[in-house]
Amino acid sequence: MNTQHFLTLNDLPASTLKSLIHRAVELKALTKSGAIFEPLKNRSLAMLFSKSSTRTRVSFEVGMRQLGGGTLNLSPNDTQIGRGEPLEDTARVISSMVDAVMIRTDDHAKVTKFAEFSSVPVINGLTDDFHPCQLLADMQTLYELRGSIAGATIAWVGDGNNVCNSFMNAAKLFDFTLNIATPTGYEPNSKIIEANKTNLRLINDPNEAVFNADVVVTDTWASMGQEDEKKQRLNAFKGYCVDQSLMNKASKDAIFMHCLPAYRGLECSAQVIEGPQSVVFQEAENRLHAQKALLEHLLA
Ligand code: CP
Ligand code: NVA
Repeated sequence: MNTQHFLTLNDLPASTLKSLIHRAVELKALTKSGAIFEPLKNRSLAMLFSKSSTRTRVSFEVGMRQLGGGTLNLSPNDTQIGRGEPLEDTARVISSMVDAVMIRTDDHAKVTKFAEFSSVPVINGLTDDFHPCQLLADMQTLYELRGSIAGATIAWVGDGNNVCNSFMNAAKLFDFTLNIATPTGYEPNSKIIEANKTNLRLINDPNEAVFNADVVVTDTWASMGQEDEKKQRLNAFKGYCVDQSLMNKASKDAIFMHCLPAYRGLECSAQVIEGPQSVVFQEAENRLHAQKALLEHLLA
């Protein structure tokens, strides 16, 4: 089927991603002006959540509502997925009734399979491997604060996880340098490194990674689904906390980013996340605006 999906950032060309960022800024201003803009009247987005969510859930729900449409909030237990109905059947049934489907799940192969059988766009709302919607909001935030993203140096400090993988894709698409500092054994996916290597520097030492960086970004050390590894991870990531002394090694006006939820005292200090360099709540709000631009692009 020739349906446009958004399972990773690479599903859209760089030029389209940049247009979406500009559109997100426009839609943000439009919403704040109080204007009503409902290009998706009577359209429906099904949201399938197999993992917890605050930002993704609220931003898609409110975003669809502001664009004139509505959402269905589904979980495996509310549907026959929980009783073993095949994804191939679920995808064909749900997509015959709604205009788009957003999925948050564990195995990335599940969203790929769903998309294969879906007649409407499928949006990845986070898998174990990628979080492309987060990167749309992050790139919007950087664009708002800095005007341009190309040529910037961004330091990723911490776990080589799903958000890191999407950051690696973004590095190539938006042409910035991504310094990645992870403990040995917690590096990101090697295939994604290989695909984006022109824009990456893999480093173990966080001090080296953040040196002169324009942006320092981190995320939880134990993602959803890794709860059993938490103790072992807390040990492995000692020395990777983004605290003020680490931020001081970055560029003088460096900003601090985090997709949230954050664990103060672990991957970042309370001082940094609550401090003047932190833009985490602008990032979170931009989930709404960036995804409205995405929904408009895929559906209108
Ligand atoms: N950043 C993010 O995706 O947050 P939620 O898990 O709350 O959706
Ligand atoms: N890496 C985190 C991101 C949460 C938004 C997780 O997967 O749990």
